[in-house]
Amino acid sequence: MRVFVAGASGAIGTRLVPQLVDRGHEVIGTFRSPGHAERVRALGAQPIALDLLDAGAVRRAVLETEAEAMVHQATALGDVRFFRNFDRTFAPTNRLRTEGTDALLAAAREAGVRRFVAQSFASYRHAREGGPVKTEDDPLDPTPVTTTRESNAAMRHLEAAVTDAGGVALRYGLFYGAANDGLIEPVRKRQLPIIGRGGGISSFIHLDDAAAATVLAVEGDAAGIYNVVDDEPAPAREWLPVLADALGAKPPRRFPRWLARLVAGDAAVVMGTEARGASNAKAKRELGWEPRYPSWREGFVAAYASAAPAERRTPEPAARAQSPSRL
Ligand SMILES: NC(=O)c1ccc[n+]([C@@H]2O[C@H](COP(=O)([O-])OP(=O)(O)OC[C@H]3O[C@@H](n4cnc5c(N)ncnc54)[C@H](OP(=O)(O)O)[C@@H]3O)[C@@H](O)[C@H]2O)c1
Repeated sequence: MRVFVAGASGAIGTRLVPQLVDRGHEVIGTFRSPGHAERVRALGAQPIALDLLDAGAVRRAVLETEAEAMVHQATALGDVRFFRNFDRTFAPTNRLRTEGTDALLAAAREAGVRRFVAQSFASYRHAREGGPVKTEDDPLDPTPVTTTRESNAAMRHLEAAVTDAGGVALRYGLFYGAANDGLIEPVRKRQLPIIGRGGGISSFIHLDDAAAATVLAVEGDAAGIYNVVDDEPAPAREWLPVLADALGAKPPRRFPRWLARLVAGDAAVVMGTEARGASNAKAKRELGWEPRYPSWREGFVAAYASAAPAERRTPEPAARAQSPSRL
């Protein structure tokens, strides 16, 4: 198939393009930042510079490339650091999820594109009631924290527009597995505390597993919303210390709710104390997908073994024999 990947140079795009190429697909990959053409070409795709917020340019690019399938992986989270006002930080991404999605869908419709798959997000969105793990049929939070309302609305817009058009919205877990993972720096700097009893649940996904599920969604005939998360949604009190250890960082601090609210804001408190996780049963059943890293427990270790400071890593047997500490 000829597959048009919007956002081919990003965290998930760079994992997805090689997997599509390996499966025999011809890939057209878009990038935004000057200089990213080579990155996309090296992955095996035909690079195209494209701003998704320029609907005319999107239409021209899509019509010219005559793609049969389209994947929307464009976000604008590259420079995001530890944040307090969620919606302000996500504003450019929210535009890509609303205006960008609409422009791609309109162009896809005109060009006769048969498959449309788009990136959404699974964690921190469900109604904060009932059991800890939610399916795609469970209700989303009707009253999200004020500073996250626009971001929640943008994801709802994307999911409604894509599924109304017969496409697939993939609600990925929190990505990990790359050198620019958003959690690495805050965990190293101990900026992510365990809040209260640390009961807020997160769902994770290794980038390679997210890409593999996306390939299956492109190739199959499924439609609708799918959670693409690992098998072990987990409370912050469990995953944060394991991530800190995998990164060779000091254990996370512990903050009471009132202090966390003061320092990090309401959204962080809700995520850390009340959030629900997501189930991947539907993606396994209907996409035929199985994660290579079923749990972040082994995934963090595999992803960050080389990122931990040298003295924390297990030395090779030969090196161990000569290690000064053993002499
Ligand atoms: N589910 C999750 O947890 C999740 C989801 C997304 C991102 N993240 C995290 O956010 C961080 C950065 O992610 P990222 O590397 O994917 O970077 P990013 O800056 O969010 O870029 C993603 C892709 O969108 C493209 N893009 C940005 N603005 C665009 C626009 N106006 N029009 C068209 N395309 C546009 C980028 O192109 P250029 O590369 O050419 O700029 C890139 O290909 C990583 O830590 C990642 O793990 C997490």
